[in-house]
Amino acid sequence: MRVLLITGKGGVGKTTVAAATALRSADLGYRTLVMSTDPAHSLGDAFALPLGDDPGEVVPGLFGQQIDAQRRLDSHWGTVRDYLADLFDWGGASSISAEELVVFPGMDELFALAEVQDHVASEAYDVIVVDCAPTAETLRLLSLPDVLGWYMDKLFPMERRVAKVIRPVLSKVMSMPLPGDDVFEAGEGFYERIEGVRRVLSDPDITSARLVMNLEKMVVAEARRTYTYLGLFGYAVDAAVVNRIIPDAVTDPYFKRWREVQSEHLETVEGAFADLGLLKLRLFDEEMIGVDKLRLVGEELYGEDDPTDRLAESAPFSMRDEGDEVVLQISLPFVERTEVDVIRHHDEVIVTVGSYRRALVLPDSLRRRQIVGARLKEGMLDVRFGVKDE
Ligand SMILES: Nc1ncnc2c1ncn2[C@@H]1O[C@H](COP(=O)(O)OP(=O)(O)OP(=O)(O)O)[C@@H](O)[C@H]1O
Ligand SMILES: [Mg+2]
Repeated sequence: MRVLLITGKGGVGKTTVAAATALRSADLGYRTLVMSTDPAHSLGDAFALPLGDDPGEVVPGLFGQQIDAQRRLDSHWGTVRDYLADLFDWGGASSISAEELVVFPGMDELFALAEVQDHVASEAYDVIVVDCAPTAETLRLLSLPDVLGWYMDKLFPMERRVAKVIRPVLSKVMSMPLPGDDVFEAGEGFYERIEGVRRVLSDPDITSARLVMNLEKMVVAEARRTYTYLGLFGYAVDAAVVNRIIPDAVTDPYFKRWREVQSEHLETVEGAFADLGLLKLRLFDEEMIGVDKLRLVGEELYGEDDPTDRLAESAPFSMRDEGDEVVLQISLPFVERTEVDVIRHHDEVIVTVGSYRRALVLPDSLRRRQIVGARLKEGMLDVRFGVKDE
């Protein structure tokens, strides 16, 4: 079972890459599902086929699904929301719509992702490709069961058994609506689903994220930040997908400068994602819409390789507190010599070992700390950050 998350900034080619990856996977004989959470129905547009909320067949062995996040939200969360609406209404907050109060940022996306968990459980597919543009909020929610736990506590301040006992009493003396069993069940169901999807997505044997980007400064910068945060949150990223590379065959002087700019950014990409598989896709001379063209895209992206393979062992890194200091641990599995050079350059840490160079964008929490030491031991590099600058 494999889950491939295709992610990246708006417009970089996520849907195209997701569709082409899924098509190639199905052509190799894997039962494949490609799903999208984009309300704009762009997955259907990419295949030039109408796709709905239930999986529909695109070609033999390939199914496509465009998730209606709002519908999922209603069906899984509706009971809870209705209760909260009653509660807020009782509290005099009726002018605020229940939706506004209950749907925290990223929640609809979260429900769409929860669908992945159902498909994994059903064992109907060998490969699930997700065309997703997760917001920072979604990633955070998914990564931290603690955060969800916090929400659950806020929404369900009373233990279920307590509610059972006091409900009949309380409802006699006051009109405050108390949550019924159905509300607790819905809340618990929600929590379990999210827990389940978190487990699936953070298992590197199952899930790999692929970062799609174009060779533009802002786009590369954003992809690097996403890489850092996915790593910190425990998701395995296995490839960088560089899309819209202007081919060498384009000799028009107008594009000469563009090609120079692109090759500069490509160097940055090669350094920043050195541990990942690098998939390249040229800028075609037309939009790549429909099954035939997407097949070409898939061939160009993966060549003879199996798109469902793990294209790189994830290069995990982690942070831990040591007293007042924070240690950033970066795995450098192929490095044996101890001539490691670690420098800080603006908000990046750059690790050089011989010809190997890796640059990592620092998470916000480390920006105001200076590097005070580094040590390489058993394929792990510990970079120590001192106390926070005032
Ligand atoms: N390498 C390429 N050559 C030519 N056209 C491309 C290429 N990659 C993508 N396109 C076209 O660019 C358009 C946008 O691509 P796509 O929809 O895949 O981007 P996206 O990242 O999913 O966008 P969004 O963030 O809006 O979901 C589509 O019309 C697609 O056919
Ligand atoms: Mg898209």
